[in-house]
Order: sequence, then C-alpha cells, then structure tokens
Amino acid sequence: MKKTLNLIDPIDEWGSMKVDTNGRLIDISAEFCENFSINKQDWIGTSINDIIQGTFNRKRTKVLFGVIFGYSCLVKVSKVNEHQLYRVIVRQDDIDHVEMISFMNSMDSSKMKKKSSFQSRYSFEEIMGESPAIERIKELSARIAISNSTVLLTGESGTGKELFAQAIHGLSSRKNNPFVAVNCAAIPDELFESEVFGYEAGAFSGAKKEGKPGKIELAHHGTLFLDEISELPYQAQGKLLRVLQEREVERLGGTANKNVDIRIIAATNRDLKTLVQEGKFRQDLFYRLYIFELKIPSLRQRKEDILPLAYYFINYFNEMLGRQVKFIDVKLQEWLLNYEWPGNVRELKAYIERGMNIVEGDTIMMEALYFSPSESAPQRERESAPLLSLEEAVANAEIDAIQRALQEAKGDRTVAAQKLHIHVASLYRKLSKYNLK
Ligand SMILES: Nc1ncnc2c1ncn2[C@@H]1O[C@H](COP(=O)(O)OP(=O)(O)O)[C@@H](O)[C@H]1O
Ligand SMILES: [Mg+2]
Repeated sequence: MKKTLNLIDPIDEWGSMKVDTNGRLIDISAEFCENFSINKQDWIGTSINDIIQGTFNRKRTKVLFGVIFGYSCLVKVSKVNEHQLYRVIVRQDDIDHVEMISFMNSMDSSKMKKKSSFQSRYSFEEIMGESPAIERIKELSARIAISNSTVLLTGESGTGKELFAQAIHGLSSRKNNPFVAVNCAAIPDELFESEVFGYEAGAFSGAKKEGKPGKIELAHHGTLFLDEISELPYQAQGKLLRVLQEREVERLGGTANKNVDIRIIAATNRDLKTLVQEGKFRQDLFYRLYIFELKIPSLRQRKEDILPLAYYFINYFNEMLGRQVKFIDVKLQEWLLNYEWPGNVRELKAYIERGMNIVEGDTIMMEALYFSPSESAPQRERESAPLLSLEEAVANAEIDAIQRALQEAKGDRTVAAQKLHIHVASLYRKLSKYNLK
C-alpha cells in the first residue's frame, strides 16, 4: 500500500530548548526532558554549545546537525523575540555518540576521500545554502531519510539531486550498506537489463560463465539510486515495477527469484507526469515512485545561495590547487547574481574552478568571465538530453545567443546585432522567426 507522509506538520518533534542572547539555556520543554531523560533544573543556565556537540560553528545556520546527550540530531533554530528556539526535529537512535563525532570530525578534512566508493560520499553538512528554500529541503530530506520511503528528487540538472540522494542515504539506518547509483541515461538499452537485473550463467552469448549480480542485488540492504529515471527503457520499467512491488529480483535467464531489501531514491530533471501522459513512462511505475517528491529549486530561484556557494567552491579549490583566494571582485559578484545559471550549481562550480586556475592574487576578477561559463555545460548531462534534429538544435542555439546578446545590450537591438556580428535586419528577421520580444 502507498504510504503518504505528512511533512507539513513536524512528525518527529523531540522537544525544544530556548536559549538567550548569551547562548545559555533558559527553558527546556517537557518533551525534551522526557525524550532525553534529563532533569530540567540540572541544565538550565548551561551553554547550548555544551549540549549540542560535534557540530560546526557555521554562522547563521538555521538547520544544524549535532549530538545531544548521545543522540545524533537534526536541530532547527529559529528566532523567538530576542531568544532562540532550538527544536530537535530528527533524532537518530542508531548512531552512537563516538561514531557520530568521529564521522563529523572526518568531514572537515580530505580524509573523506578515503571512504569506500560504495558508501555515499556526502552528508547534509556539505550541502551549502542558506536560502529558506534549501533549508526547507534539507529539513524535509532529513525527515524522510530515517524512513524507508521511496523518494523522488526532481529539479533541473546541476541542482544537487545526487548530492541529496547521498546525504539521505548517509543519514539513514542503511548508511553502512551500499549506495548503488544507476544512471538510466548512460547505460545502452541492450545492456540495461543485464546491468541492473543481473544474469545467470549462459543467459546470452558473451555472458560471464558464472553469471553476474545486477545493481539491484548489489544494493541489498542499502539504497538504489536511479538517476535520470525518465530515460529508463520502457520494457525495463515493467521489470522495475515488479521489483518495487515484490521486492524480488529475477536475473536474466534465471528461474528463481531472489529477495532484495532496498530503498529506492530516483531522480529526474524531466516532468514525469507529462511523460506518463505521452505514454512514455508507465503510470503504475510513476505512482510507485511518486510517494514523496523533493523538488530542488534552480539556482536562479534562490539567488541568496549564489555567493555563499561561490565562496564555498573558492575554499574548496583553494585547498585543491593550493591557492589563497579570499575575495570575489564586486563587479563579478554582480554578474554572478544576475546570470541565469542554466546549469545551476554544477555550472557555478565549473565556473569558479576555471576562474581559480587563472586568478592572480587574492581576488577573483571579471577577467575570469572571458571564459564563457556556458561553454562548460557538462558533457554527461548533454549526452543524456534527448537528441534533437539538427534544425531544432541550431534554432535553440540561435535563440540562446540572441537572448544573451539582447540581455548584454540591455535590449538595444543595434548593439545586440553588433555583438552577434550580424546585420540588424537579420536580427529582426530572426526575432520574428522565433517569435522573440
Ligand atoms: N547545495 C550544494 N552545496 C554544495 N555543492 C553542491 C550543491 N548543489 C550541488 N552541488 C555540487 O554541484 C554539482 C552537481 O550536483 P549534482 O548532485 O550532481 O546535481 P544533479 O544530480 O541535480 O544534476 C556537484 O559537484 C555537487 O557536489
Ligand atoms: Mg545528476
């Protein structure tokens, strides 16, 4: 049966603490005392920093992770008059104190890279952004993480869907088991079933003698991340549906079913509802996946995240490239804030990386712009987009160039035509051809 979770009302309230301007506890709710088995009078006046441990001192954070009385918790901080209210909205009971602290400590260094490739590499602490939109998604993800629900992540390419999928897995009770990612757009149709469902000995010519487990089996007790689910071949959609319904997988050429315990997280940058209407995506599968949707907003819908993300990537590349960049030139800041970011955070990251390779001194300047960011449209994403006819592709490129030229020329068509190296009459013809304003 389909379970629908109500996430508008807090479902995992573990109680709250009120803190004054000096960071001292002035009140503790009865639920909190009960859930954490403490006596209120013993803790009033204590510094909040002594109560919540293992967290980073990230200023202005509204959602934070830390250990409270031995439990790892997700805490939402809000302002109530001059006080702050710390609400524990998620408490994960199966992580012990020591493990959580060492996990947190390992995250602020490059030690992370040593994690096995099967385990997820990211946690919520690495999802940057202070916009209410992203804080909200982080909170919802953390809540959903501890359940076993199927999650559908939607949003434009480069918004961080995979990052969220890994963070959700990392906070779930499955975190020590595999996180197996399948990019449905990247596996050729004819290999799809053998890769995902596996095959038995002698299933087809060229098959391994001893057979091979598919990704679904490899994800046993862990999470199966189905990226670009809209690109799943139609036949495989039916097979996947059976796996989701029965929690059983049958290898190609096999006769026996094997039980699998997997949590599904799927992601798409396309509108699955439309694909269902067009008959390209099975409706029954859609309903199986559409239990809990997390919509990640595009970067242009949360402009307040642009600069914090830019600085985050600057620090990241400072470490990687051994640079000491500290500032973003004001003019460049302005440009970053006004750019449309069609490739979202991925594009911003690529852009900062390029800038960091040519920067001199401690400030990234406008000059970095000479390398147009749109050149960096990620290759993988490009390949996975449906192939257009040449005519359509050319038309899209022309529209894109014209719109950018007009934007840069602040709407002046003569200037825009000059920028495009075409005659202004030609620009007018194209504007009317493509119905552009
Ligand atoms: N909020 C964020 N904070 C830090 N890095 C991010 C954030 N969102 C995306 N990224 C980075 O941007 C790139 C694209 O993210 P990804 O999860 O692959 O996007 P998607 O799957 O939606 O295309 C990755 O390098 C990822 O680490
Ligand atoms: Mg992706």
